[in-house]
Amino acid sequence: MDQETAKIIINDNVHELPVITGSEGERGIDISRLRALTNYVTFDQGFGNTASCSSAITFLDGEAGILRYRGYPIEQLAEHSSFLETAYLLIYGHLPTAKQLREFSGLFTNHSMIHEDMKNVFKGYPSTAHPMGILASMVCSLSAYYPGIDLVDPTPKQFDGIATQLMSKIRTIAAFAYKKSIGEPFVYPREDLEYVPNFLNMMFSSPTRQYKIYDEVVTALKVLLILHADHEQNCSTSTVRLVGSAKANLFASISAGICALWGPLHGGANEAVLDMLETIHKEGSGIDKYIDMAKDKSSSFLLMGVGHRVYKSFDPRAKIIKKCAHDLLHKLGINDPLLEIAIKIEEKVLKDPYFIERNLYPNVDFYSGIIYKAIGIPKDMFTVMFAIGRMPGWIAHWKEMVEAPGGMKIGRPRQIYVGAKTRDFVPINKR
Ligand code: CMC
Repeated sequence: MDQETAKIIINDNVHELPVITGSEGERGIDISRLRALTNYVTFDQGFGNTASCSSAITFLDGEAGILRYRGYPIEQLAEHSSFLETAYLLIYGHLPTAKQLREFSGLFTNHSMIHEDMKNVFKGYPSTAHPMGILASMVCSLSAYYPGIDLVDPTPKQFDGIATQLMSKIRTIAAFAYKKSIGEPFVYPREDLEYVPNFLNMMFSSPTRQYKIYDEVVTALKVLLILHADHEQNCSTSTVRLVGSAKANLFASISAGICALWGPLHGGANEAVLDMLETIHKEGSGIDKYIDMAKDKSSSFLLMGVGHRVYKSFDPRAKIIKKCAHDLLHKLGINDPLLEIAIKIEEKVLKDPYFIERNLYPNVDFYSGIIYKAIGIPKDMFTVMFAIGRMPGWIAHWKEMVEAPGGMKIGRPRQIYVGAKTRDFVPINKR
């Protein structure tokens, strides 16, 4: 078959542009020579129609509600895989053998501690500091502790070290940030515990209290981490790529990604969902007022946890999390009225023409807060949990970008300037 092309006609001049086809049949018009050929650029605010790169990490089909990591359906990974195995898959592109997973896991154990000096940095924060702010700066600060390692162009072995440092230490930093906020002493990581139980122990044990680790809680948390592990070119991952494209090191690039994730339209939505459900519950006047407010164009209120830039039929992650929330609450014997409110909102949203016409469905963050709450994770740590889960995805994208055949290109979009035309400066006494 002939190579497909697209034609663009500008003032009667026809320009032919190549079409790139992905492995799942997605097609994109390659405009990389458009400006050189025509002196025009494209305009796509929010990048809703722009592929910023080609990537072999995650495939998602928003119309069909499909999400796969390296070809493996998210449903299978959530059920059968561990978080570390999924992390390995995302970063290295294939499932690990038993030996590879043992070695990978060993690196996590070796790197779980943070440098004792870093503990002093925690002391400088007020107890009211948001843990996402602490996380972003601590992750960037980690770069200060590896003299002698080329952070910008690490060797493959150095990269393995840096990647596992990040994934292992983010969990320790997150738990320490929480302990700092409640004024309790830090609990150190333990070599005998796996990734998720180790985190729970650092969060909830204390010198006088041994936290009991329930299998159901570990499973629910593992599922959440896997579901959050990657989501192709979302806002924070695009940020990691953009910052990394300037050859910023992995610590700095991921710190920037954490800042992007913090926003309530992105990872911060899970916290905002719980705020919304709590307010509805406290008011006790039902959900209709909030549904109406979300539909009212004169109000800026949005139903948090609803809608997605890419998913236009359903978010497959939300489906798994809803079931997971149900199962966990049932097993722990918790009757949370917020879950009932969430289910009622979902029922209304699925029937209401406003949401149907705009393809708005509950997203990954709609039910995750209910699980975190049941586990005892405080609200301002919800987005931190998202960051812990997203870490393998960010690392995988940074690695894919710096190793791209043909080299990496610095990210530098164009703009359409709409400001003042040239004018002469007027001294202040003459204005
Ligand atoms: N409640 C009410 N109306 C909404 C909502 C909502 N949650 N989301 C979108 N709309 C409306 C929006 O007002 C617009 O209406 P109209 O066409 O009449 O102007 C239409 O739906 C299209 O919305 P959009 O803002 O153009 O869509 P987008 O793709 O730019 O934004 C979104 C996607 C996720 C930012 C948005 O749906 C939103 O703000 N949702 C609430 C926040 C949220 O839950 N974010 C988490 C996203 S999932 C986690 C992650 O991966 O980040």
